[in-house]
Amino acid sequence: MNRIDLFPFSTTIENDSLTIAGQNLASLAHRYLTPLYLYDRSTLDISAQTYADALSTNYPAPAHITYAGKAFLCTAIAQWTREHNLFVDCSGEGEIAIAVAGGVPRERILVHGVNKSDADLKAAFQHAGIIVVDNLNELHRILELFPISHSPYPALWLRLLPGVTVSTHHTHTQTGHHESKFGMTREEILEAAEFCKQKNLPLKGIHFHQGSNFRDPEPLIPAIEMALDLAKEIGCAGDWRFCPGGGWGVAYHEDELPQPSIESYVRGIAEAVIEGCQTRGLELPHLHLEPGRSLVARAGVAVYRVGAAKRRGDKVWVLVDGGLADNPRYAMYGARYSCLTVSSPGGERSGNVSIAGPYCESGDIILEDLPMPPIQVGALLAVPMSGAYQLSMSSNYNGARKPAVLWLEAGQARLIQWRETVDKLLKQDAGRS
Ligand SMILES: Cc1ncc(COP(=O)(O)O)c(C=O)c1O
Repeated sequence: MNRIDLFPFSTTIENDSLTIAGQNLASLAHRYLTPLYLYDRSTLDISAQTYADALSTNYPAPAHITYAGKAFLCTAIAQWTREHNLFVDCSGEGEIAIAVAGGVPRERILVHGVNKSDADLKAAFQHAGIIVVDNLNELHRILELFPISHSPYPALWLRLLPGVTVSTHHTHTQTGHHESKFGMTREEILEAAEFCKQKNLPLKGIHFHQGSNFRDPEPLIPAIEMALDLAKEIGCAGDWRFCPGGGWGVAYHEDELPQPSIESYVRGIAEAVIEGCQTRGLELPHLHLEPGRSLVARAGVAVYRVGAAKRRGDKVWVLVDGGLADNPRYAMYGARYSCLTVSSPGGERSGNVSIAGPYCESGDIILEDLPMPPIQVGALLAVPMSGAYQLSMSSNYNGARKPAVLWLEAGQARLIQWRETVDKLLKQDAGRS
């Protein structure tokens, strides 16, 4: 795989400089400063269309894509989801507010959360069409807070813990294994379903999610079987919903195999659901898929400026102006990344460098030991595959201000998130008196 193939689909090299959607990255960095995040609309469109085409080819009943907002959500992304008729998965009232501000209609807002607060549930009842119930206590609280006479009443889906492990790049990105904190066991699901029946709650679907960034869909099959068994036992019929989550993998580094095919992932799920329903005499559900990373990771690029370099033993550290605070994935999971210089991206790679940020943590690293051309202080570096779980997990560590974010579309760049300011940090500080 070539390094440039990790970048958004609209990436080209023009006048020996990296260009995305017709926008020269050096000019953008000069105008908007660094660290800077870029999202390429055409890459998002292609990814969403690939999912939609795969679903319409392989699944004969209605099927829907839910964008996992936790990967990265802002109002511009929320508006974009409307253009593709996507549902939006929101974790709690903050993301619900962003989806609402982006105009996502109630029936397309779906609320997740492993320990939803009362405020999360209130926001869900005010704005969402679906709540995915994580546990029995949550179900009881829902009924305490919102009697069945409340209107409209969001559809309730139950989140199953399949107890089946998928292979991801790190155990912290597994969510469906036996000991996971997420979802309900088979017995708990049956108890929850009985409770819904007794109380007349609108139980409409079953959900599970096994993890993030897996390439082998095989472990999805026993989980699908288990979920369909439960659907049969519970008596799911008619307009019922089934969601085997998201989690499809991407390639972060040219050493990895290319991004696995979305088509084969969707086909595998569709076939298992169709066959599983036939065997059990179940009506085909609306099939919902919930991708985040595989929709948005490749659309995003982080641009940093080099401030210094140090040789320490065999290691060459290139120090840039962002890192842990806008991208904690190396520190959290030892995630791997690649990188190109914005100028002369095709330059001859003369030695390995490691790229670290300015923060007071030795784990403030973006990548290690990557062959690069000589890098001068002041150079710009572009890190691909930066669209998912970076900014959405960013922090104000060391007083860092979150980077500006640009939306690149048809030769234009539009600011979609302001760079945070010191003023904003101080406004949030409640002071001493
Ligand atoms: C419930 C749920 N759905 C969907 C996703 C999206 O996963 P991915 O971004 O790997 O597709 C996640 C991610 O953790 C999740 O927890």
